Amino acid sequence: MTEFKRYTVTAALPYANGPLHIGHIAGAYLPADTYVRYLRLKRREVVFVCGSDEYGAAITMRAKKEGITPRQIIDKYHTINKNAFERFGISFDIYHRTSEPIHTETSQNFFLKLHQQGLFEVQESEQYYDEQAQQFLADRYIVGTCPKCSNPKAYGDQCEKCGSSLSPLELINPVSTLSGTKPVLRTTKHWYLPMQQFEPWLREWIVHEKQHQWKPNVYGQCKSWIEQGLQPRSMTRDLDWGVPVPLPEAQGKVLYVWLDAPIGYISATKEWAKNNGKNWEDYWKRTDTKLVHFIGKDNIVFHCIIFPILLKAHGEFILPTDVPANEFLNLEGDKISTSRNWAVWLEEYMNDFPQRTDELRYVLTAISPETGDSEFTWRDFQARVNNELVAILGNFINRVWVLVHKYFEGKLPGSGTIHFSDQSLQQAVEHTFQMLQESLESYKFKQGLNILMDLVRDGNKYLTEGEPWKKIDSAPEQVADILNNCVLLAAHLAVYMQPYLPNTAVKLFQMLNISPNDCYWDAPIALNGGHQLSAPQLLFQKIEDAAIEQQIQKLEKNKLMHTAVAPFKEPITYEDFAKLDIRIATVVACQKVPKAKKLLQLTLDTGIDQRTVVSGIAEYFEPASLVGKQVLLVANLAPREMRGIVSQGMILTAQDRDGRLVLVSPEDLVMSGSQVS
Ligand code: MF3
Ligand code: ZN
Repeated sequence: MTEFKRYTVTAALPYANGPLHIGHIAGAYLPADTYVRYLRLKRREVVFVCGSDEYGAAITMRAKKEGITPRQIIDKYHTINKNAFERFGISFDIYHRTSEPIHTETSQNFFLKLHQQGLFEVQESEQYYDEQAQQFLADRYIVGTCPKCSNPKAYGDQCEKCGSSLSPLELINPVSTLSGTKPVLRTTKHWYLPMQQFEPWLREWIVHEKQHQWKPNVYGQCKSWIEQGLQPRSMTRDLDWGVPVPLPEAQGKVLYVWLDAPIGYISATKEWAKNNGKNWEDYWKRTDTKLVHFIGKDNIVFHCIIFPILLKAHGEFILPTDVPANEFLNLEGDKISTSRNWAVWLEEYMNDFPQRTDELRYVLTAISPETGDSEFTWRDFQARVNNELVAILGNFINRVWVLVHKYFEGKLPGSGTIHFSDQSLQQAVEHTFQMLQESLESYKFKQGLNILMDLVRDGNKYLTEGEPWKKIDSAPEQVADILNNCVLLAAHLAVYMQPYLPNTAVKLFQMLNISPNDCYWDAPIALNGGHQLSAPQLLFQKIEDAAIEQQIQKLEKNKLMHTAVAPFKEPITYEDFAKLDIRIATVVACQKVPKAKKLLQLTLDTGIDQRTVVSGIAEYFEPASLVGKQVLLVANLAPREMRGIVSQGMILTAQDRDGRLVLVSPEDLVMSGSQVS
């Protein structure tokens, strides 16, 4: 294995068009931060860069919708996100912006270097143009009917209903979202990157070299992409918000996101180097630098295929050694969605649970979607905090400190350097150290956290079995020994937990009355008999049911506000409508259908006959409560058998805000058999 001298660690640049939620954090930023904190503890040279992705159609669209400028949007969300990351303790060395001049220059130079090599193929093509708005339309600005599934709201780049990726020209009945008019085709010129030229190299580099190194989810996606074959892709766009293409003949064109956003990592490093007396090129051009990209799974192709092709084509840059992408985090049984507000927003969490960032770090690592999608639920959050952080980690430390203060006035008993006198404890610590390092080096953060918690469990067991409270009078020496072992273990925990639980580690160091700076990651921790510990403080507090209920209710409320009302159906003629025979009927009897949870059997008086109707409303009504009620009946629906009962018609219901069914009834009593028209 190559020995690396320094590390360039990047985390996906979030779009500056909205706030951060726990899905973002679990996907990229928390694992990246854990990794970087570990590298720093190992005293390795590392730069950790991130920043706002401030160009692209997503931002101009949002600005249009809100009637403000893109600049106003990015300034707002850049500040919000930068502060949220800081408050949460994501320890970037720099949080930069792609709208900075140094980024314009860096990405333009990158483009020019490729241009000078004659790499681009300039091609004319027909693209949709909005004559009213007088501009070419980005893919996202065009909606139309999906040719694959007939979804009438497919976008120019993809259909969110069936998931197919599309080109705008494939849409049926395209409409510009800018003006609502039908766009026309116009000829335009763009600079294409012939990606297919890099295919043989990519095969070698990814398919062979990275096969056993990259995570299976990452490797798998790359391989299938390569196998589908690569095509030329346009690196420029007709837009007015972005980095201008640095060629006189490219007026009004900007660099496509591919030649913009990931180069943001490079410009961020440049800015950081300038401010910190470093040479940025060491971090991007030297082969003894390890480049690692932390991203979510939606960015795998971007970072494993496209950006490496660009870096390789440029010629001076190193390539990513690893791209430990995570899968997605779901929330309470549903996909996280910004537009539906189905999310736990980072900022809101920190306001609702002040000073409890380590708790969220812990849970998001414990459920990290490292190998597949995973799920956050508030109940699980509560259980992990209460049953693991409070009951295992907090409890161990607290018991030890209380006992040392009770029996030895908070001073470590004895004299001289303290060593583990218990063999198995010593071994457990060594084993943890090895495994923890292995886990962190291979991005198995969840595994590392489990290993760490197992060591705490060992400590608890050791203390419980030692029963110092029973021995303090008969064998004080033995008690001294047990407690010294426990404090020494706590000191190791303080060191090892730093990448995961940085704030808790600080508290524990305070209780130990030693400075974290005096502890090296891989050097033995020196504690001496006679050392005075500080007073115990609670590391974690229980999360009460009420706090969890409140969060769940907040989500539920949102769900109601965003429960979509179904779109209107296709128009019908009056004749179609007139075929329906809707009548008022009165319920004369009602009972549950045996062994069918949802079905009620109703006997209805229609004024003409008495008939049986089976209806799927049993979850919402007590049978007896329906007797005497008037309902709307579709009387001429062909009879249908359900559970052996023939249902003659259907009664009409509507949904309330909770999704519960309610009956639709006449406002005043009317004659049974009245026609509804
Ligand atoms: N802003 C984009 C996203 O969040 C792209 C981030 S990756 C980068 O999906 F390379 F562009 F930074
Ligand atoms: Zn579709």
